[in-house]
Amino acid sequence: MTEENKKHDSGLLGWLLFVVGFAGALFVGWVVFPQLLYTTEYQPINYNHQIHQEEAGLSCEDCHYFREDGTYAGKPMLSACVECHGEVQGETEDEERLVSEFVEPEKEIPWVSYTRQPDNVFFSHVAHVKMAEMACSVCHRDVENEIKAPPVKINRLTGYPIEIMKMHVCEDCHARENVSNSCDTCHH
Ligand code: HEC
Ligand code: HEC
Ligand code: HEC
Ligand code: HEC
Ligand code: HEC
Repeated sequence: MTEENKKHDSGLLGWLLFVVGFAGALFVGWVVFPQLLYTTEYQPINYNHQIHQEEAGLSCEDCHYFREDGTYAGKPMLSACVECHGEVQGETEDEERLVSEFVEPEKEIPWVSYTRQPDNVFFSHVAHVKMAEMACSVCHRDVENEIKAPPVKINRLTGYPIEIMKMHVCEDCHARENVSNSCDTCHH
């Protein structure tokens, strides 16, 4: 091998190493790190919005309602299920588990939140759903035709779900709708 060729080879090797190292760094940064950062949690049992809408004739307000003092009930309590699932009526594993693991031992179902905000943020459903008459799907996933609740990705560092509504999303809409964006509107 001539001097000239050797130089050329080591240049190529260096370049190859650089490419491999760079690709590796990208892989760790884009693929591995985000997967390490988020854990995936599943709902304790599946709640099928579509079947309850169509076969059980329930309306959204049967489970997601405003209390008399104007606060929002959020996720339903077990008492919203017992009326129909006091004993197993269908053939699915989820319904059997609903009865044996929650209804019979009278244990609340620990639903996982998709949209929990930090404690220092004040959010009011009344202002948006009642006063501004917004549909739930402006801010949440559209559940009406959903037969399976999706998994929830939780950030390991902050403990908050990935789908948390970011401050700029709140502020952009407030700006469009002429609603106050002073800090104490949302941070008390
Ligand atoms: C029998 C009770 C029940 C009824 C009726 C019901 N839901 Fe739900 N809903 C649940 C439960 C349980 C969850 C939590 C599991 C999940 O997210 O699927 C939930 C979750 C949700 C969420 C997600 C909230 C989040 O954490 O991001 C939205 C949005 C929602 N429901 C909207 C609706 C709408 C719109 C209707 C009417 C079409 C409706 N629900 C009817 C029980 C109910
Ligand atoms: C008004 C009656 C009624 C209420 C209230 C009700 N369900 Fe149901 N549920 C039904 C009917 C009807 C079906 C369909 C037949 C079947 O599979 O049992 C069903 C099916 C199910 C199934 C199995 C079907 C599937 O695809 O996963 C689960 C799990 C379930 N319900 C959970 C719940 C939970 C949790 C609540 C309370 C938040 C609830 N249901 C409240 C009537 C009701
Ligand atoms: C303007 C945006 C917006 C609209 C519209 C809206 N929500 Fe929410 N929702 C949120 C935010 C933000 C949270 C988290 C609140 C928190 O953690 O303090 C939330 C939380 C929830 C939760 C979870 C409560 C919990 O304890 O985990 C449910 C259930 C829910 N919303 C249902 C609904 C339903 C049903 C509608 C329609 C009737 C609706 N939301 C309309 C923004 C919205
Ligand atoms: C898609 C538009 C939209 C989004 C997204 C939105 N808002 Fe709003 N918000 C409104 C509107 C419109 C009102 C005024 C309701 C009324 O009083 O008629 C309002 C009112 C409020 C109020 C009551 C203000 C007052 O002076 O009484 C609070 C608090 C609030 N929003 C917080 C939030 C937070 C926190 C978020 C994000 C997590 C958010 N909003 C996301 C449109 C939005
Ligand atoms: C329309 C509602 C809204 C307004 C107005 C608003 N914020 Fe926020 N802010 C949020 C929400 C929602 C979060 C949580 C989500 C996020 O981190 O993006 C947040 C998060 C923050 C955080 C990070 C806190 C944490 O726990 O990580 C800081 C700091 C903050 N806001 C400061 C401010 C300041 C300063 C102002 C005024 C210039 C302001 N915010 C106005 C909604 C609002």
